[in-house]
Amino acid sequence: MPSITVQPNQLLERVLTIEIVRVTERAAVSAARLRGRGAEKAADQAAVDAMRRELNKLPIDGTVVIGEGEIDEAPMLFIGEKVGNKSGPKVDIAVDPLEGTTLCAKNMPGAIATIAMAEEGTLLHAPDVYMDKIAIGPGYPKGIVDLDAPAADNILRLAKAKGVKPESITALLLDRPRHADMIAAIRKTGAAVSLITDGDVAGVIHTAEAKTGIDIYLGVGGAPEGVLAAAALRCIGGQMQCRLVLDTEEKRDRAAKMGIKDPRKKYEIADMVRGDCLFAATGVTSGAMLRGVTFSKDVIETDTVVMRSATGTVRRITAEHRELQKFHLD
Ligand code: FBP
Repeated sequence: MPSITVQPNQLLERVLTIEIVRVTERAAVSAARLRGRGAEKAADQAAVDAMRRELNKLPIDGTVVIGEGEIDEAPMLFIGEKVGNKSGPKVDIAVDPLEGTTLCAKNMPGAIATIAMAEEGTLLHAPDVYMDKIAIGPGYPKGIVDLDAPAADNILRLAKAKGVKPESITALLLDRPRHADMIAAIRKTGAAVSLITDGDVAGVIHTAEAKTGIDIYLGVGGAPEGVLAAAALRCIGGQMQCRLVLDTEEKRDRAAKMGIKDPRKKYEIADMVRGDCLFAATGVTSGAMLRGVTFSKDVIETDTVVMRSATGTVRRITAEHRELQKFHLD
């Protein structure tokens, strides 16, 4: 059996793979304490505070490139904020401390705390605008679906590549009026449509998880969420194409300031995540991908998935936190 040598520069990355789990775990626990309280902002803030605290303990010289917003609108984890204890490598960080704020506020399935990390200069600096997305799981020839093709064509081509009838394809979309025509067109092919109220980072990842039964993700969601999902697919395989929705002068200006030269560019995964990356997510409320945080008398339990693109390793980490519960630490 060939032995695998760990290069010194890979060592820290391997350590960080485990360290970032602490970051999403703590954000998830803090948000979960406010599940079902109808308080989107408070839950988000709790997750942001916890995530920022944990990030600042990491041996990294990090810059938030996808965060809570631009500096004038977000006091913490804003785009450009420096995080980490500066003793390690320069990295780009994409965060969504509470993805699915409404899901958490209403205690509905699928809220997560999530992060991606990559070498400095390799993650797309996307403004907080909408993004048109299409994604499928691994194992298909490249280019089998295309963001610019009609949704029905994409379903038919995917069904052919999978060797099934369109009736056996399931598409996942955000349940939004803007998707009404697309939903009708997909149903006309015979395919099934699954709808989610929020949470399209997990929505995209579902295409790469056979157990979900989701074959394709389509539609318009947040651009920050698009970059996070691209990082996950870079680790586990799959295809994704996206385009920023820059439909006003103001948005085009904002994007230009962030270095977006072509406002109509169609991004592939490798354009959004230009090198190796790490991705982690911890469940806040239970969903198809992760179990939510459970609080019992002496223990808090978290469920996390963490991925590393260099090796394609996916770890599922169930953690029991005793100190956190004992001292009610956040
Ligand atoms: P938040 O956690 O910021 O509320 O985002 C939830 C979400 O559903 C994302 O997963 C998705 O990309 C975006 O909102 C869609 O935006 P909108 O709700 O405006 O359609």
